[in-house]
Amino acid sequence: MTPSPSPRLAVIVVAAGSGTRLNGGGPKAFVALDDRSILEHALDGVFAAPSAHVVVVVPDGYEDSARTAADRVRRVDVVVGGRTRQESVAAGLAVLEPSVEFVLVHDAARALTPVAVFERVVHALERGASAVIPAVPVVDTIKRVDHDGVILAAVDRSELAAAQTPQGFRRDVLEAAVAAADADHTDDAALVAAAGHTVVTVAGDASSFKITTAPDLERARSLVAPRPALIPRVGLGTDVHGFGGEGALWLAGLEWPGEPALSGHSDGDAVAHAIVDALLAAAGLGDIGTHFGTDRPEFAGAHAEAFLSHTVGLLAAAGWRVGNVSVQVQANRPRFAARRIEAERALSAALGGAPVSVSATTTDGLGFTGRTEGVAAFATALVVPL
Ligand code: CTP
Ligand code: MG
Repeated sequence: MTPSPSPRLAVIVVAAGSGTRLNGGGPKAFVALDDRSILEHALDGVFAAPSAHVVVVVPDGYEDSARTAADRVRRVDVVVGGRTRQESVAAGLAVLEPSVEFVLVHDAARALTPVAVFERVVHALERGASAVIPAVPVVDTIKRVDHDGVILAAVDRSELAAAQTPQGFRRDVLEAAVAAADADHTDDAALVAAAGHTVVTVAGDASSFKITTAPDLERARSLVAPRPALIPRVGLGTDVHGFGGEGALWLAGLEWPGEPALSGHSDGDAVAHAIVDALLAAAGLGDIGTHFGTDRPEFAGAHAEAFLSHTVGLLAAAGWRVGNVSVQVQANRPRFAARRIEAERALSAALGGAPVSVSATTTDGLGFTGRTEGVAAFATALVVPL
């Protein structure tokens, strides 16, 4: 994309500083945040103003690097800056297209300035402001101190605002102020105010902080670092138990009076155990043997509630919650139809309220379930990042 042939708006990106306080092994704007430099990130916000003439001001010898960084997205003009920020701004102003009426000056060091801040500044200019800067309230308690660090006075914070960039100006106002400057100012608003103009503010943004020192760089790097994708995961679990246990039958979290019991280290509840395996698999936490082996006496004879609530705790510790569970029982008996909803409620309650669907089928007389030797259960589970 190229800017329109006669743009009304220009953005001067000042990137010619040496970055002495950062000490990043080269000019600050060319230090990497990820696989892209501070300058490249700063240009993301700049390029959101589609028809602007963009001028990047860089240290001598960095013109080609800047052109390569920018030209992947859009053509920019690159000029060499001066000894001070003010001189660098003047170098940018010198190459503006004749049609430009409004100029934004932006620190490359504010690499993560959101597009909305650019929009607020441009909007204020279009509504008639001669000079506008983004500012954020000062949150710290501020003191005036002497050279030895002794407090001279408290400063009323309500009167203070921290200035950010992009700072926007009517072109004639900024050019006249730069031409008339008799001192070095740390930002353009100070220069324009010294020339007698009113400077208004719009809301800045916390993420528009200036990368100045090593901790600022760390903060910016962590903000652009890719985060692990927050996607749900599925898991599969099966279990089989044979009839021949002691006492009553426990299955799907319910006691089934009059039905033959299943055998097993615990109560033999194949439905609950299949669900546990599906949940652990979904969360990547191993399987039921990893957490409920026969070396865990507290689970001898335990019912579904103990298995499932312990599993929910394991998941939570690893950053997961249960999305939902679907489980199918293959068995000639017990007959599930009359107690299916009751089983779903019991299992769901043990899982902290996550939905559980239970279905049941016979196997047409085939296999060990068809011969009423035991039951089999098959579960799928979805887990969701906390
Ligand atoms: N800048 C510039 N030309 C200069 C000095 C500064 O274009 N002669 C730019 C910087 O590249 C930066 C912005 O002005 O994007 C704000 O300056 P600052 O954060 O002070 O950057 P540096 O001057 O590079 O850092 P330091 O003061 O630590 O050396
Ligand atoms: Mg500086």
